[in-house]
Amino acid sequence: MGREEQLRRLEERIRNCKKCPLGELRTNAVPGAGNYSSKIMFVGEAPGYWEDQKGLPFVGRAGRILDELLESIGLDREDVYITNIVKCRPPNNRDPTEEEIRTCSPYLDLQIDIIRPRVIIPLGRHSMAYILKKFGFDVEPISRIHGKMFEARTLFGRIIIMPMYHPAVALYRPAMKEELEKDFRKIRELIDGIS
Ligand code: SF4
Ligand code: URA
Repeated sequence: MGREEQLRRLEERIRNCKKCPLGELRTNAVPGAGNYSSKIMFVGEAPGYWEDQKGLPFVGRAGRILDELLESIGLDREDVYITNIVKCRPPNNRDPTEEEIRTCSPYLDLQIDIIRPRVIIPLGRHSMAYILKKFGFDVEPISRIHGKMFEARTLFGRIIIMPMYHPAVALYRPAMKEELEKDFRKIRELIDGIS
């Protein structure tokens, strides 16, 4: 089975999943979207209101900021794959629980195995913590390690992990937008370096 077919089937499984209680509360699961052959994968936290309505990742206010950041380095959504650690919306946009993350994250693990990205960008501290632990790194405060490079070795080669602040922080603290723009420029350098 080719990569496209594998991912399509996986996304279908996620849309029908009821493995945790969030499955009963959602309007739509949000498996992820974008380019199945992308070298770069963004991993947010969990769907919010608009994502749940549309079944697509980052389509609300944080999504607009993400679009602007991508555009600032000459990328759009067709160039990247975007997903979340947890695929269904937690009520009132609360943080996902440890249990929900444990139940849902095998889907993310599979997406990583199938897409085989060269670069993973965790967005926000929950995603950062999950991805760093998964690849055997110690978790540190995001204020210290955003924009830093972690190099992981996997069965399918080297992966660069570069955690970033969650784009939503720019909604409440406009100064963070500059910090995000600075970090995104490093993504551009990374991509130019590997292609
Ligand atoms: Fe399944 Fe994940 Fe949705 Fe829970 S959050 S029902 S594990 S897809
Ligand atoms: N915030 C996230 O972490 N993920 C989304 O998909 C939307 C907002």
